[in-house]
Amino acid sequence: MAEIAVRAEHLTKKFGDFTAVDDVSFEVRAGEVVGYLGPNGSGKTTTMRMLLGLLSPTHGSAQVLGYDIRHQPAQIRPLVGYMSQKFALYDELTVFENLDFYAGIYDLRGSRRRLRIDEVLHLVGLEEHRKERAEDISTGWRQRLALAIALVHDPRLLFLDEPTSGVDPSARRVFWDLIDRLAGGGTTVFVSTHYMDEAEYCGRLGIMNLGRLLAIDTPLALKTACLPGPAWDLVLDPAALIPALQALEATPGVSQVGLRGDHLHAITRAGVHSAASLLAALGPHGQGAAVEQAEPTLEDVFIALTRRPA
Ligand SMILES: Nc1ncnc2c1ncn2[C@@H]1O[C@H](COP(=O)(O)OP(=O)(O)OP(=O)(O)O)[C@@H](O)[C@H]1O
Ligand SMILES: [Mg+2]
Repeated sequence: MAEIAVRAEHLTKKFGDFTAVDDVSFEVRAGEVVGYLGPNGSGKTTTMRMLLGLLSPTHGSAQVLGYDIRHQPAQIRPLVGYMSQKFALYDELTVFENLDFYAGIYDLRGSRRRLRIDEVLHLVGLEEHRKERAEDISTGWRQRLALAIALVHDPRLLFLDEPTSGVDPSARRVFWDLIDRLAGGGTTVFVSTHYMDEAEYCGRLGIMNLGRLLAIDTPLALKTACLPGPAWDLVLDPAALIPALQALEATPGVSQVGLRGDHLHAITRAGVHSAASLLAALGPHGQGAAVEQAEPTLEDVFIALTRRPA
């Protein structure tokens, strides 16, 4: 059986009367990339801070790399890397000096320190920028420097809290390639995001809403288990989009429907609808429409899970 890197059991955090993380239980196996998807305020950072031993849970418990988060945070810290959502860089220091500073905090010394800094600079592709001041590099490079800092002490487990927020799609893709490479080298990654597209890159994905972990599984299994049936794209005359949306909302067997840019996207209950029956349901608004079965998305899953009555 694979080694368990994180085991959270009924983890709960209350701030006064407000429950930020509500009875969350899951496991992360060594070597996995597990995503933690949820909107603002759903409890992602609070969960991570508890797992890092930075916040004490109100109820429940967790072990990280076999150590108890309440009683053994000092054993956990040197083994894990953390890229905080609001990471701090020393702007007036160069890329190298930032890494050197953090390497010092982790007590890396001498040639081992220099070698490790070179290694992480190479890993994140920042060698060319080593002499530039942190304030002079782009947001995407700053994000990579923050990742390099989280990696400088060669942790076995990496917590990344919305590491790609605010960077453009191509920089996000590069960042995810880096995550893949780290995982390929044996590092376990627990990464929060609110981007549905990058959630697809995770081996398994936990879906958070209002402090609750609604589901955790592979993206494919979530789409299979959490949706009642197939997905459809309906391309229509732009003027017909809203009345067609309303017509579908009122159609039995259509469990969810929404606007996706220039078309409608719907989920129907299994075995109920065909392209022809959906077209018929559109009535006069379906004139010239094209209806095709589509790939379900994680957004579909999120909507399906969050619409369910508690
Ligand atoms: N120290 C605190 N005191 C009171 N409330 C807090 C505290 N920290 C977090 N919260 C609240 O707990 C909830 C969950 O916050 P958290 O930061 O974990 O969410 P998140 O999923 O990380 O959101 P985001 O995507 O915006 O980073 C929010 O409503 C937040 O306002
Ligand atoms: Mg957060």
